[in-house]
Amino acid sequence: MKIGLFGGTFDPVHFEHVNLCRHAVKELQLDKLIVMPAGQPPHKRRGRPDKADRWNMCRLAFANLGRCELWNYELSKEGPSYSYLTLRHLRTIYPKDELFFVIGGDSLHDFFTWREPAVIASLCELAVARREGEADGPELTRKFREVFGKEPVFLNYRGKNISSTEARVLTEFGLPTDAVLPKAVRAYVAERGLYRERADFIAGIRDFLTEKRYRHTAYTVAESLNLARRTGCDPEKAFTAAALHDAAKKLSDAELAAYGYLRDPKMPDPVVHAFAGAYLAEHHFGVTDPEILDAIRYHTTGRPAMSTLEKVLYVADCIEKTRDYEGVESFRQAVAEDFETGFVCCLKGTMELLKKDHRDQVSELTGEAYAYYRHELDGREVRANGIF
Ligand SMILES: [Fe+2]
Ligand SMILES: [Fe+2]
Repeated sequence: MKIGLFGGTFDPVHFEHVNLCRHAVKELQLDKLIVMPAGQPPHKRRGRPDKADRWNMCRLAFANLGRCELWNYELSKEGPSYSYLTLRHLRTIYPKDELFFVIGGDSLHDFFTWREPAVIASLCELAVARREGEADGPELTRKFREVFGKEPVFLNYRGKNISSTEARVLTEFGLPTDAVLPKAVRAYVAERGLYRERADFIAGIRDFLTEKRYRHTAYTVAESLNLARRTGCDPEKAFTAAALHDAAKKLSDAELAAYGYLRDPKMPDPVVHAFAGAYLAEHHFGVTDPEILDAIRYHTTGRPAMSTLEKVLYVADCIEKTRDYEGVESFRQAVAEDFETGFVCCLKGTMELLKKDHRDQVSELTGEAYAYYRHELDGREVRANGIF
């Protein structure tokens, strides 16, 4: 038999999990695809799903998918789940069968740092499903062959660029999740009130933003969380900073003054909302963490020697999913390949955009930031479509 294994936290399970399973069964001609929710949820908090919730959501999502079986082997164990142990377990049940471990393209990047990757590679074939726009990464295949003496199998199917993070943030913001979550999962999330632990905080921000800006804010939060995970930043801080970053955007000078913020008349128009936003975050929303306040304060101008959190918000604001200005795709690619290089790409791109659209209104800080970071690119291989 040909047997596939597809694991994940499924927090929550989304459309692309389901699509991926359907296509993996077809392309790999699997007799059975085992869907295995992971044991340890990343967070244990109020409003967060427990094991039973994740199991129930998977049941709803995979209920009618032919050849898919939901297994609770990892879920029923205490502690973290390690793929090599699960695969060893499967090998004892299926000693002679062909085994495929289905993973996402981003997981292939991380695969070398997993527990016992050589054991995994010896127990099964790796079947990799990439997303739309994800680079082919021939050097990764080469590295895989050098290290493990075989190549991963790449599925032809390209998944849409959605994620559980996006589903959680949209739910948190009370925005529609039709494009991300299957109907039955959506209903379950609503009924159980999942992913709404910051609902009061978010409700307080909503009045400050236009509808478009509110959506942009939600996606900036989602992207900040992704980048925070990649760069080791505190996700709670990234969430708060991103949620509040544009809170002052639609307020006039007079309205800002009513909140106690007096605008410096020499400050260029486009950057006022960032400094005023930091003020609002502190005096209206009660944020006291200087790192969060600085991330908000410098999210438009940047500055020399930025903290990782400042860079995370800066980049997330530039490349979040709803951004569609010319050149944004090359920034996304640069960030995907290397965060620091991508950050400098965004910095330069923003500076040029500001110069074009606002002529004399570029903050000196932006120029100083770019001058400071430009040297970071020396000696690096920049493939961001000739931005430099
Ligand atoms: Fe902004
Ligand atoms: Fe923004």
